[in-house]
Amino acid sequence: MKGLRLVAAALLALAMTSGCRARGEQPGFVVMPGMYYSVPYDSYDPNPVLRGGQTLLTPPEGTVPMTGEAFAYGPGPEEALRAGVELSNPETTDAATLARGKQVYENVCAVCHGPAGQGDGPIIGRFPNPPSLTAARARTLPDGHIVHIISRGQGIMPPHAAQVTLADRWRVVLHLRQLQGGAQ
Ligand code: HEC
Repeated sequence: MKGLRLVAAALLALAMTSGCRARGEQPGFVVMPGMYYSVPYDSYDPNPVLRGGQTLLTPPEGTVPMTGEAFAYGPGPEEALRAGVELSNPETTDAATLARGKQVYENVCAVCHGPAGQGDGPIIGRFPNPPSLTAARARTLPDGHIVHIISRGQGIMPPHAAQVTLADRWRVVLHLRQLQGGAQ
């Protein structure tokens, strides 16, 4: 009887430790592989069932994000000019909105453009100097044109539509106008 209990205890200990390995990077014995390994297709997996042969489908033309954030202007200077003529800033200059614009500017733009828009952010030396945002050209750019530049980029400035929501882009413009009002 005692011997039997000993064998049972040894078997239990074996079962409990057989899933372990001394080296953490090696998975041990997989008890239930169906729960361990992902069964569904990954987004970029080939898929024999779907049109196009890939799991992630291309959205139909004209699809807009659920946030309603489509920016209906393509890249390039002509589209930027058009945005400047057609769009106006929907945001108001209340304290909370201005504070948000300042926060986004400082988090996203200041690294290149500098805290006061002088083109002297910490990245300078490793990236070409951006133009001053308080200079005559930036002052005369309409709000919609600036939102286009943020959304689609300009020259070597990369687009920021993926990082900054459309509403925040308009708020950043309000902050820019404040910087332009401050530094003549
Ligand atoms: C990676 C660095 C970088 C970041 C980040 C960046 N910019 Fe720029 N920006 C530039 C450069 C460089 C230019 C000049 C591009 C060109 O015309 O070749 C520029 C141009 C501009 C212009 C046009 C200025 C003019 O006189 O033509 C505006 C307006 C502007 N940026 C606003 C912003 C705002 C607002 C943000 C934040 C949402 C931002 N930028 C983020 C580098 C950056």
